[in-house]
This record gives sequence, structure tokens and C-alpha cells, in this order.
Amino acid sequence: MAEGFDMKDDILKVLLSEEEIAAKVQEIGAQISKDYADKDLLLVSVLKGSVVFMADLMRAITVNAAIDFMSVSSYGSGVKTSGEVKIIKDLDRPLEGLDLLLVEDILDSGMTLSYLRDMLSKRGPKSIRIATLLDKPARRQADIQADYVCFDVPDEFVVGYGLDYAEKYRNLPYVGVLKPCVYEK
Ligand code: IMP
Ligand code: MG
Repeated sequence: MAEGFDMKDDILKVLLSEEEIAAKVQEIGAQISKDYADKDLLLVSVLKGSVVFMADLMRAITVNAAIDFMSVSSYGSGVKTSGEVKIIKDLDRPLEGLDLLLVEDILDSGMTLSYLRDMLSKRGPKSIRIATLLDKPARRQADIQADYVCFDVPDEFVVGYGLDYAEKYRNLPYVGVLKPCVYEK
């Protein structure tokens, strides 16, 4: 790696700043706290893209919430969906009687979440809802909507705040668009 390298040099533009994201996550957290005041909330983070959002969102929630993680693969290292969903890591415990909130980084084609929601609903949770940091409604293929959306984004490939390109840029503190030359490398 070249000395002095900074991921930020690969970013064309910042789409959502750290401050903007923080303010919106607080707002969504407050809404979730109201909606789940008398429920048995289990936050399920879909790895790995949603970890940063999950970490901030759970601390913006003021009611009791258990957490769990799931890992599925729907993408290779590229930018297009294959439509295929494979369970890499399942949840630790049964879901009977729990109010599930699936925490996602981005709702794109919706294929991944639609598959997950259908699979998890068969395990007898009391309810299932979806919270997503980003929504790209223009690209939707599956019949699915999020109940909590922080931001709608245009049909551009974005990275940062958990989202990757080829496993890189997840640790950028904001959401940005990559320079085209990065894909061409
Ligand atoms: P879907 O099944 O097409 O909705 O895919 C959702 C998953 O694809 C997300 O959880 C991301 O991991 C990945 N993804 C979709 N769009 C983007 C993007 O713009 N940047 C980074 N990852 C993306
Ligand atoms: Mg993901």
C-alpha cells in the first residue's frame, strides 16, 4: 500500500455526512423506542454491512432490546446482485413471541430481505419489521418495504458507514460515492 494512502482519496463525493447520519439515526431510534415501548424487541443485524448502523441505532433506542446477528451472502465482490441468498450464520435463539426488527444497511433489489423475512416469519415471531439505513426504491424487484428508513438514495453505488465495495470502505465514517476509476482498477 502506498504511503500516505487515504480511502477518502477514492471518494468522488460525500452523499451523507457523519452529522446528517447521526441526527437521523437519533430520530429513528426515538421513533422505534415509542413503537416498541411495550414489546419484546430483538434487533437482528444483517452482517456485515449493517454493523455500523446497528451499533449507533441500538444506542439511540431507549427501551429494552436484545440483539443478534445473521450473515447471508447475496453478492460476490462486485456491484451487481445475483439474486441468490445463502445463510452463512444463523440466529442464536428461537424467535417465538419476539418482536423482530431486521436492521439492514441498504434495501436495493430487496431480494435479500424478502427472502430473510419470509424465512424468519416461519419461526413464529410476534412481529417482523425492517429498519434500513438506506433505501434505493428505484431498484426494487421484490415486493418489500422498510418500516423505518433513514435515507432514500439515488441509483448509485455507495460505500461507507458499513457499506463496502469488495470488502473495502466499510470503515469510512460517512456515505459516499466512489470514483469510477476505482471499479476499473
Ligand atoms: P438486495 O438484495 O439487492 O436488496 O441487496 C442488499 C445488499 O446488497 C445490501 O445489504 C448490500 O450489502 C448490497 N448493496 C446493494 N447496494 C449497494 C450499494 O450501493 N453499496 C454497497 N452495497 C450495496
Ligand atoms: Mg448487506
